[in-house]
Amino acid sequence: MVDADIEKAKRNAAKQALNFLGEASTIGVGTGSTVEKFIDVLGEEKDGFKDRLFVASSYDTMLKLSKYRFKVLHPITIDRIDVYVDGADEVDKDLNMIKGGGAALTLEKILTYYSMEKIFLVDYTKLVSKLGEKHPIPLDVLPYAVSFVYDLLIRKGYNPQIRRPTKGKYGPVVSDVGGIIIDIKPASFNPVALERELKSIPGIIETGLFIGLADKVIVGYPDKTSILSKILK
Ligand code: 5RP
Repeated sequence: MVDADIEKAKRNAAKQALNFLGEASTIGVGTGSTVEKFIDVLGEEKDGFKDRLFVASSYDTMLKLSKYRFKVLHPITIDRIDVYVDGADEVDKDLNMIKGGGAALTLEKILTYYSMEKIFLVDYTKLVSKLGEKHPIPLDVLPYAVSFVYDLLIRKGYNPQIRRPTKGKYGPVVSDVGGIIIDIKPASFNPVALERELKSIPGIIETGLFIGLADKVIVGYPDKTSILSKILK
């Protein structure tokens, strides 16, 4: 069931994001239902963004941008992204995030890392006091290594689950880079240490932990938005 307040909150965050695009000539675009609203808002802007270049974090986003006839480039053809806009599954007070609910975490992390400015749009239900409170941590895993990685994650007590779609396909969810998505739920964890540990495991292509990567998080509410900015240490 779609909650009307959450839909309004996502749309408010999406609209607010337009104010941060400035003169950006290349805009990176994430994946998910909040990003979908951002693309709609861009598309409704009467040609305002038709001269900009876009880079997408998934085939889904590529298709949605193309529907509005935006110019979408392959990242191999560019050397700079001015602004990246994406959603998130959870955001803590330090703007650390869990992403990958849409299985696009690998390309999302690449675009985030290599963009000059990184902006995330969430509805108010995504704010948490501790990462992992509501959402598991997705891992994009090379199929060749999936059994090894899965067994190791069990032995570490991380409660791995191979993600399966609710409809439309038998078998595991396969990411845009051909990986198999495993969701883990460690009982308690330090996000920085866990990210370091997971990234050292051969076969794990990428994790859904986005640590220290967000510059701004726009939080949408049904009737307003608030902006959280990274505190430079
Ligand atoms: C996709 C993502 C999404 O940004 C995240 O799952 C949030 O999605 P939504 O905006 O639909 O709540 O990380 O891989």
